[in-house]
Amino acid sequence: MKSILFLASVLGLGVPITSVAIPKCHTDEDCNLNGVCNPFSKTCICDSGWRSSDCGELDVRPATRNSGYNQTGVGTSSWGSKIVHDPHNSKLFHLFLAEFTDGCGLDYWSPYSRIIHAESTSGPIGPYTFSNQVVGTFAHNPTVVYSPADKLYLLYYIGCSFSAPAVCTGPSFTCGPGNDLNAESGISVQSSPDLKTWTPHGQVFSGDNGTNWDADVTNPSPFPLYSPYHPTAEILLAYRGCPYNCGGAELINFATAQHFQGPYTKIESQPIFQNGNEDPFVWQDKRGNFHLLLHSLEAGGAFGDGPKVGRHAFAREFEGPWTFNNQTLAFNTTVQYTDDTSVNFYRRERPQLFFSEDGQMTPLYLTTGVQEVNSPQSYSVIQPLGGAAAYVASLGF
Ligand SMILES: *[C@@H]1O[C@H](CO)[C@@H](O)[C@H](O)[C@H]1NC(C)=O
Ligand SMILES: *[C@@H]1O[C@H](CO)[C@@H](O)[C@H](O)[C@H]1NC(C)=O
Ligand SMILES: *[C@@H]1O[C@H](CO)[C@@H](O)[C@H](O)[C@H]1NC(C)=O
Ligand SMILES: *[C@@H]1O[C@H](CO)[C@@H](O)[C@H](O)[C@H]1NC(C)=O
Repeated sequence: MKSILFLASVLGLGVPITSVAIPKCHTDEDCNLNGVCNPFSKTCICDSGWRSSDCGELDVRPATRNSGYNQTGVGTSSWGSKIVHDPHNSKLFHLFLAEFTDGCGLDYWSPYSRIIHAESTSGPIGPYTFSNQVVGTFAHNPTVVYSPADKLYLLYYIGCSFSAPAVCTGPSFTCGPGNDLNAESGISVQSSPDLKTWTPHGQVFSGDNGTNWDADVTNPSPFPLYSPYHPTAEILLAYRGCPYNCGGAELINFATAQHFQGPYTKIESQPIFQNGNEDPFVWQDKRGNFHLLLHSLEAGGAFGDGPKVGRHAFAREFEGPWTFNNQTLAFNTTVQYTDDTSVNFYRRERPQLFFSEDGQMTPLYLTTGVQEVNSPQSYSVIQPLGGAAAYVASLGF
């Protein structure tokens, strides 16, 4: 997809903004499968939750200060949260996230991370209040999905039992093959019928100590492939791989299992694309297409290097081919607030979405782990997307 603006910038021409044409689309792929290409106007019509000429940008709206889960005021850091709507009480929302013990900051996520459950009765943005610990140290990268075939909530995470020293430090240890420096390799599952009692099923997807590009496996993102027409228990699991002890590029792949307890089989021996990313978040949209939100590791993004943190990729089938959108940022490091202030975060990672419950899979909220400039601490921001206001109104908030 080439635009006049793109050509003009390549040629170094100063084009006044009024003469900039909107890039023409030819296929729905030109709209990132986040909308459709209008065959007459050749412009993208974006689905709710997305915007920009190629529908590649999340339709982020101002966040509310003191919402989400921010315990940095009492010296507690957290990271990477997933919103779950209570199945029985429409006014209750749950948040599953990583929180670091002993007042340790983001640098000490391993081994101080544990998984906690927090609750909000003031809507999906929170603020959420600590409810209980779900998995003790070391447990990180939590995400919760509902498996309709099993009628169970599934908690995917990394880690293994480890007693962290009381003074923040980063000991070398392992939770299995793939990494013996920070124990990040290996994905575990627990299940729950009610979000309260959890049954551990152990490490279901492990790394290896060999020379594979993805010997080290982490950052689980499961998606149950169930539909009413195909009531399967099959799970699609996106993960981030890198070589043993993460001594090389961080890239994305999928594994699948007939049942959440495994065994999981990698769909490809190679990464699904060559762009460096971590923290994949996968879902299937209302048209059956597959999507990933990613924390980009490109120059000008990643660990405090700039705004290019949020990327999107799509495919008609999860087996691929996958297209990585290297043009439009899905989201960046800046969060606008309703009080007309904004924060340009040092780090913003581990994106996860909360979707509408009407079968349309409309993304309504973006949750990310954030770290402010010059702060060792971190917290969890929840940012509404375009359809969020109507959603909370429909719940009577
Ligand atoms: C998070 O909490 C800290 C400490 O209270 C505060 O300085 C910061 O502004 C809060 N962040 C947001 C986005 O409200
Ligand atoms: C793989 O490495 C882990 C440490 O990361 C070690 O505990 C384990 O014994 C190794 N396994 C094999 C088969 O070498
Ligand atoms: C973006 O991706 C396209 C297709 O893979 C590639 O041809 C192009 O060089 C990439 N651009 C940048 C800036 O990486
Ligand atoms: C970041 O995203 C906001 C929308 O939330 C946009 O207004 C801003 O221009 C973007 N900044 C950069 C540097 O891309």
